[in-house]
Amino acid sequence: MLDIVGFALPAPVGVRTQRRALFAARTNAGFSHRASANTVFGTHDPCSCTFGNFSLFSFPQSCRTPKLSLTQIAMSLPLTAFGPYRAPTNNTLMLESVSLNEIAERYGTPCYVYSQSALLQSYQEYRDAFQSFDTLVCYAVKANANLSLLRLLAAQGAGFDIVSGGELFRVLQAGGDPRRIVFSGVAKSEREIDEALKAGILCFNVESAAELQRLSERATRLEMTAPISLRVNPEVDARTHPYIATGLRTSKFGVPATTALALYREAQKLPHLKIVGIDCHIGSQITTLEPFLEATDKILELVHQLAAEGIPLEHIDLGGGVGICYRDEDPLSLSAYATALKPRFNKFQGRLLFEPGRRIVGNAGLLLTRVEYLKTIPERQLVIVDAGMNDLMRPSLYQAWHEIVPVDAPRKTDQKVDIVGPVCESSDVLGTGRTLDVQAGDLLAILSCGAYGASMSSRYNARPLIPEVLVHGSQTTVIRRRETYADLIQHELS
Ligand SMILES: Cc1ncc(COP(=O)(O)O)c(C=O)c1O
Repeated sequence: MLDIVGFALPAPVGVRTQRRALFAARTNAGFSHRASANTVFGTHDPCSCTFGNFSLFSFPQSCRTPKLSLTQIAMSLPLTAFGPYRAPTNNTLMLESVSLNEIAERYGTPCYVYSQSALLQSYQEYRDAFQSFDTLVCYAVKANANLSLLRLLAAQGAGFDIVSGGELFRVLQAGGDPRRIVFSGVAKSEREIDEALKAGILCFNVESAAELQRLSERATRLEMTAPISLRVNPEVDARTHPYIATGLRTSKFGVPATTALALYREAQKLPHLKIVGIDCHIGSQITTLEPFLEATDKILELVHQLAAEGIPLEHIDLGGGVGICYRDEDPLSLSAYATALKPRFNKFQGRLLFEPGRRIVGNAGLLLTRVEYLKTIPERQLVIVDAGMNDLMRPSLYQAWHEIVPVDAPRKTDQKVDIVGPVCESSDVLGTGRTLDVQAGDLLAILSCGAYGASMSSRYNARPLIPEVLVHGSQTTVIRRRETYADLIQHELS
């Protein structure tokens, strides 16, 4: 079900403002949005707008009147949303039809919570945007490898982008079709190659000349044929955080465009290799179209050169990397991406592949955490919570921003606090300079944690892995149970 957002804003306002306003309305989030929270809405034509996955609620006609504050609007929305929102009755945070207070009570904290509808809706958004192409959407398993989420996507006919034998195992366990799996990664071991060959995957995304040789050797030994694509590094600056940029000249990923043709010629001579495609992946959390188009044009140039040499390709894989809104980013629209690609692919007869991770699952999840202590130190007010960098690594690894909101109705304050975790590292900081009034025992929701949250978590400081809960309507299912202390030592006992 897709509800339309009818949103009356004083025209003209940019998409970014619309999104910020929506977000503030939905979550009363971070009172850095205070200015927009006080915005008065006009009676101009309502414009439909989306905010990542938080877009899906209907806006009652009665609210399209002047002088309604965002808070009033948020309170009056008949929300059927897929992202978190505040219950009109008591202003506490909900996901689908479930109160986050209830989830915390039932499953404890810290705890990851995902919306099934948000996950499936963003997968469908990809399918819809590229429906005029012959497309295969290969979900990047690394973003979130939970078996239940993989199962949901497999049931929709999704393909998968894997980077290890473990991810292959997970996808197969989840019922994924091996003929829809692409295998990326710079260090595929002999064992991993053999496992993927035997599973019958769609293609190996080859990242070096040495890997090409190893693939040929393993396929020859197993008397099989390895379908291959070269991951080409198009040397494009994705204008994202350096740790998640993968298409720069100095990157360890892919083969330089200048050597790709020679490698394809070499691959063509190897009898146990079959050339099926070409691919690139230039980075993650990219919010503008230009880097994608620059990379696509470079890849298409190679595709035409290959065709001229009698090496036709069955598919072109443009990787993942499409960004989401964590704070006030204005992520690119998939339909604009599709529109820009259309004329470029006029002459290509084959299939178009994508490897999205973050865009599928990022806004579908949040991390619930409880405040343990407040602590005042010179120049800083600390809110110490029970989730740490081992549970959510992105802020300490990439200085990533996640919106952090109270689960109960927010209290007005001008106070700025830093939210820190229990891990014995100074970098265990989940958010700095947040305008929040909280007490020990309060629940907080750290938003947009569906991607690279649980999948990057660790047991550092002997902290058991935390549970993951899937919400669907009014149902909640534990899709990964909380680990026990016994789990921590089970593999060390002789
Ligand atoms: C090869 C490859 N494909 C796809 C992805 C998914 O990227 P994103 O989650 O930004 O869509 C990654 C992530 O790093 C990757 O390395």
